Amino acid sequence: MKFENDFLFGAASASYQVEGAWDQDGKGPTNWDEFTKIPGKTFEGTNGDIAVDHYNRYKEDVRLMAEMGLESYRFSISWARIFPNGTGEVNQKGIDFYNNLIDECLKYGIVPFVTLYHWDLPLSLEKKGAWLNKDTVDAYVDYAVLCFKEFGDRVKNFITFNETVVFAALGYLAGAHPPGIENDAKKYFQVTHNVFYAHARALIEYKKLNQYGEIGLSHVFSPAFGIDDSEANTFAAMHANQYQFHWFFDPILRGHYPEYVVKQLEEKGLAPDWTTEELALIEQAAPLNDFMGLNYYQPQRVEKIEEAVEKRENTLENSTGAPGNPSFDNVYRTVLMEDKRYTKWNWEISPEAFVDGLEMIKENYGQIKLYITENGLGDEDPIIEGAVCDIPRINFINDHLVAVKEAIDRGVHIKGYYAWSAIDLLSWLNGYKKQYGFIYVDHKNGLERKKKASFHWFKEVIATRGENL
Ligand code: BG6
Repeated sequence: MKFENDFLFGAASASYQVEGAWDQDGKGPTNWDEFTKIPGKTFEGTNGDIAVDHYNRYKEDVRLMAEMGLESYRFSISWARIFPNGTGEVNQKGIDFYNNLIDECLKYGIVPFVTLYHWDLPLSLEKKGAWLNKDTVDAYVDYAVLCFKEFGDRVKNFITFNETVVFAALGYLAGAHPPGIENDAKKYFQVTHNVFYAHARALIEYKKLNQYGEIGLSHVFSPAFGIDDSEANTFAAMHANQYQFHWFFDPILRGHYPEYVVKQLEEKGLAPDWTTEELALIEQAAPLNDFMGLNYYQPQRVEKIEEAVEKRENTLENSTGAPGNPSFDNVYRTVLMEDKRYTKWNWEISPEAFVDGLEMIKENYGQIKLYITENGLGDEDPIIEGAVCDIPRINFINDHLVAVKEAIDRGVHIKGYYAWSAIDLLSWLNGYKKQYGFIYVDHKNGLERKKKASFHWFKEVIATRGENL
């Protein structure tokens, strides 16, 4: 089977991870500009001050993407380039940059797929409580509307937020992302609600503009499976999916939160502070989603726990994604299983669970259009006689594209696949050591770009529309 002609083959990035130019041309500081400077927060103190200098080299990067035959480039806008203080005065040079990047994509027929928020929040808003403060929601809606007006004539695909669970959980439960708060479940749930409310408002504003494009958001998709079929672990999987899957997908696609979770949060005094107006808006916005973006890296294998277990010590390597921790409510823990395959960072490799998970989406949410907005392998790529031989990445993406095909055959409505990432970039906590790109960036040699083996392979996949996978 070939992928249909309207299925988009793309690759992705995010502003803080690629742009650099952290204070160039009037950009304001962000939460990440500050957080990465705190000793011990990132691998060897790496930060995005320069990153891979995409801000200054976007022409070369987009030219390489075009050479690969990429049909779409997913990138994010840095809010602080547009509004250096998060709100108020607009920085025209920031707008110019994104206009140039968009036009450069279009010059080659590459569809720009734009994320409005990929975690870099203007510092002034961070200081006022970030997503705990409902003023941030108002500021976000103003920022989103400005982006629609400035870029919406050429950008026809907008993602409002990237992976709410990650910035909320790592920010308020694990303390590994800004603002670095640990074990505050009340705040964690509040942040998720405020973000969903902001998403709903942005959708409603977008539709008023009649731009005839698509809008949705991207969630991490890590379906949970019990480590065996026992009653206890089947329950653990159900519970994990209620909190990690339905809590995130139901308000967006069904317009209301899952009762199972709401009831428990209310009993524990952890329910967000939400108003009936906010809940009504979330309900009103649900049918306006044109698509759902899924970022799939791995499933979760879960085991019920009988009594509270200690959290394992968080390291930079394991605090994003590696299994081994109890859930915030000590009902289950994620487990590393001997019979599964893992990356060097202990992320499970499972295209099979991807297919099962995609079916789960269909069962729960029907025919909503899906884009796989991220999927890829973080690795330390081998360099052999100067060539970047990232064969494990080729195998990984190959197998996951086969899984996408399989899911399409089973009736799941998927219209695009974006590899993470187009070009090597800054891993939030793991620096430049953990690579994801088709394009290698030589940090010892003036950030020179090189094509990896996967670059040539993906080019062939796109040219043949996946016929030989
Ligand atoms: C996703 C994020 O969660 O995972 C990306 O959207 C991130 O921004 C990617 O880079 C990989 O994460 P990590 O921790 O391996 O860099």
